[in-house]
Amino acid sequence: MEQYRRDIAAHLSAPRDHWHVFDCVDSTNLLCKRQAMDGAADGFAAIADRQTAGRGRLGRSFQSPGGLGLYLSILWRPGCDAAALLPLPALGAVAAKRAVERTCGLRCAVKWPNDLVIGGKKVGGILTESVVLGADMAVVLGIGINVSHTPSDFEGEVRDMAASLQMVAGKPVSRAALAAALLEELDELRCTALPQPQLWLEEYRAACLTAGREVQVIAGGTVRRALALEVTEDYALRVRWEDGTEETVRAGEVSVRGLYGYV
Ligand code: BTN
Repeated sequence: MEQYRRDIAAHLSAPRDHWHVFDCVDSTNLLCKRQAMDGAADGFAAIADRQTAGRGRLGRSFQSPGGLGLYLSILWRPGCDAAALLPLPALGAVAAKRAVERTCGLRCAVKWPNDLVIGGKKVGGILTESVVLGADMAVVLGIGINVSHTPSDFEGEVRDMAASLQMVAGKPVSRAALAAALLEELDELRCTALPQPQLWLEEYRAACLTAGREVQVIAGGTVRRALALEVTEDYALRVRWEDGTEETVRAGEVSVRGLYGYV
């Protein structure tokens, strides 16, 4: 992994402390959570070539084969209350989208709250987790991006809905350049958007393909159809149910009609 680390360092525009590259871990999110309990610094970042227990949202797993994807988590100790962190998954999507666009020159969209989508396929996802440390709290933002996969590298039902950056760009994409860009965009998020989330709201709204589409909201074991109206000021999703009533959705799964095989 020395070469991967050297390549990332070569792409960073300035030296950065507290980032580590691992050959194989269970999950970079789990690693950061353990590090949080052991006192790791704000901004501690872990990148792995491969994960054996990559975690996705809503209890799913995230396929993390070696050499093909970027698996990166960052730990912050923001010193704010949990409510102030609600926009974080969406802000993470803006940071990741920027890194993807900088690295491979393609426009990257976001499916609310934070799937990265290019050409109607999922190229990456984000998992935000918090760690309670007595009266204090740490948060871990984990990002997984499919970089060099070919279609046969995806297993099971993921195969029909996922793609890699190489597949959509039609040319190789540097995983190290992407990692460096992502570390930089995440540092920008920490300094700029975390204290003032509204600064990235228009960029998120412009990238979010969910608003204006027919959706299925899956929450608490029920599936309901709705029209997604808009992303609210606090990065939640305003929807109109089929009976005409409106509600703000803050969590859960929102499938977009016409995307990932939902017809
Ligand atoms: C999702 O799409 O459901 C979220 C996927 C998040 C995957 C990343 S890979 C790096 C970090 N470590 C994990 O175990 N999960 C996140």
